[in-house]
Amino acid sequence: QRLPSVAVRCAAATEQSVLKVSRNENFGKLQAGYLFPEIARRRRAHQEAHPDAQIISLGIGDTTEPLPQYIADAMAKAAAGLGTREGYSGYGAEQGQGALREALASTFYPGMVAADEVFVSDGSKCDISRLQVMFGADKSIAAQDPSYPVYVDTTVMMGNTGTHNGTGFDGIEYMVCTPENNFFPDLAKTKRTDIIFFCSPNNPTGAAATRGQLKQLVKFARDNGSLLVYDAAYALYISNPDCPKTIYEIEGADEIAIETCSFSKYAGFTGVRLGWTVVPKKLRYADGSSVHADWNRMMTTCFNGASNIVQAGGLACLQPEGLKEMYGLINFYKENATILKNTFQEMGFSVYGGEDAPYVWVGFPGKPSWDVFAEILEKCNIVTTPGSGFGPAGEGFVRASAFGSRDNIMEAVRRFKEVYGKQ
Ligand code: MLT
Repeated sequence: QRLPSVAVRCAAATEQSVLKVSRNENFGKLQAGYLFPEIARRRRAHQEAHPDAQIISLGIGDTTEPLPQYIADAMAKAAAGLGTREGYSGYGAEQGQGALREALASTFYPGMVAADEVFVSDGSKCDISRLQVMFGADKSIAAQDPSYPVYVDTTVMMGNTGTHNGTGFDGIEYMVCTPENNFFPDLAKTKRTDIIFFCSPNNPTGAAATRGQLKQLVKFARDNGSLLVYDAAYALYISNPDCPKTIYEIEGADEIAIETCSFSKYAGFTGVRLGWTVVPKKLRYADGSSVHADWNRMMTTCFNGASNIVQAGGLACLQPEGLKEMYGLINFYKENATILKNTFQEMGFSVYGGEDAPYVWVGFPGKPSWDVFAEILEKCNIVTTPGSGFGPAGEGFVRASAFGSRDNIMEAVRRFKEVYGKQ
């Protein structure tokens, strides 16, 4: 399934060049393109072959509904203000506007995190990449398997892995999360690494870790002296009261954990771009130096602050009216998830997630994920995401995203039932 990249790589290697610059060899280790552009490429090919097909995307988790009015208005007002002498501002603080940092800390981490421990950014994906640069090229890494491909791919880019061995990358500690272990890794069998990436609710399985599980994870990281990067991008989708919405609810996490989060899936900001990363001041490297100070150095050097217009939108999200709108949007996508989950369940599939996350994880045992992806695209004109794109343990699954208009979700359900409902 990775053939296109091999072909591209071979072709590139034989091209003539005027450059006498060697390629970063780590890029040669990466598999194909990044997962989602590769899916988009296959979608385009399908559309070209079937020009009349009305393709529905349940692939990349991209929000579809318009920005809520109060939030959109705040950004429009900020943009209009920039056209006036009083409303104009240039560079802002690289760490984010004070009012937004305060609002993030008090809304999501009351009594747990101080405003100056919150760094506003252009999104979690970008922060994860910047974190990798800060950690440096001599670190060992663990990641859930399956998980958001950015953790592994940026680790490869940094040179912190060997080559791909046909299953996974040598040097990465894959923490397998499958139905067999209730989507929580067996930590007794997990090797110590410098950094642990952990996403809860997990993308793609939709599994949210319980308080008890997170206590185990924090203890594991503390016992090993590992730094935990906790990705909470879907935390507000959690329904289960036993699943914390931030790692800082767990005692001792503030000495070992960085948390990343984003407005993308909460307020429809996938295109707007606004996220944040929490770096507690208690985090210290082995030599006693401050992780917070280094992250501040990173952001002030490599980032110029999130757009002032967008930060006005973020601040609006955290006002009572904005919060109400944001939760309305989240609930809408959660209903989509329920509809999709019920559909697959009724058809007799093993289906996971969909309750604490906007992703439904559907089992097709014994079938390669890319084949299932291709079959669903061919027979239903629906784009999903092949589970193996999220790691070796995702093989045999596909992910259906709940981000879509209600009409598209209902039409997708109709098509799924037509093709898979009578098996
Ligand atoms: C996904 O589909 O996994 C995510 O939407 C991609 C992202 O957030 O970058």
